[in-house]
Amino acid sequence: MTQTITERAPAKINLALHVRARRPDGYHALETLFAFLEDGDELHFTPGAASFTIKGPFAAALSGEGDNLVLRAARGFAATFGVAVEGAWLLEKNLPVASGIGGGSADAAAALRILARRHDVARNDPRLFAVADALGSDVPACLLGEPALGTGRGEQLDPLGRLDGVPVLLVNPGVAVSTGPVFKAWDGVDHGGIMTGAALDRALAGRNDLEAPARTIAPAIGEVIDLLRSTAPTLARMSGSGATCFALYARDDQCAAAADRVRAAQPGWWCLESRLS
Ligand code: C5P
Repeated sequence: MTQTITERAPAKINLALHVRARRPDGYHALETLFAFLEDGDELHFTPGAASFTIKGPFAAALSGEGDNLVLRAARGFAATFGVAVEGAWLLEKNLPVASGIGGGSADAAAALRILARRHDVARNDPRLFAVADALGSDVPACLLGEPALGTGRGEQLDPLGRLDGVPVLLVNPGVAVSTGPVFKAWDGVDHGGIMTGAALDRALAGRNDLEAPARTIAPAIGEVIDLLRSTAPTLARMSGSGATCFALYARDDQCAAAADRVRAAQPGWWCLESRLS
């Protein structure tokens, strides 16, 4: 019997994102603290006839896309490991698209984990990371799937130790933001690197240097941050290039109360209560 293989594609957040320099190749040199949530998209693969189906609350946002990152990941895997990848992909799209929480990158990483399982490739095989790297700057971090300091364009990773159980609330005002234009709008000023120490201390002392440029493109981000700050979080900040913002709390009940407040104040905004992993 053909076996379906399932992998979760957890949402990624950047606890801090310091932009240090523009690089000659058009990318930006970063120092960033990656963390992952317990929740996200889910990907299923059933070997057999080729197909690609998207369902879930954000499926429509991707339906016009001819070349999903999942299929590009599958092609990269097939070429690198010299195997045929034929089967039915089913993506449950629970995360908003173009929103700074790595949805597409997480899906691509989940595809690589599925194919690694199917073809007995070790999860830490450097060739798997090379395929991830070629797909996007956040894909290696999503493949690692645990808290890490990212340097380079975000692909060089140093694990930080787990952050299991920290309550987190994600809020998106329903505005899709493309990453490239946000980086382009960065003012070019280096405000310094991320300090050393424990991950959450480093996050608290850090910044997201893309927040100011993202707010010029999507002013609603400012409203999200203001609302989150009014819920007494330990930290509220934009993730990635936006527009999703996150807030961390000391306890689950504080996170739940904050989610209630956000839903009451802005019923149209997307809101996810979760925990770091
Ligand atoms: O690597 P990825 O394709 O996900 O990046 C999308 C865009 O974001 C790039 O084309 C680039 O404009 C910008 N980017 C950047 N510096 C990074 C990562 C991404 O300028 N470190």
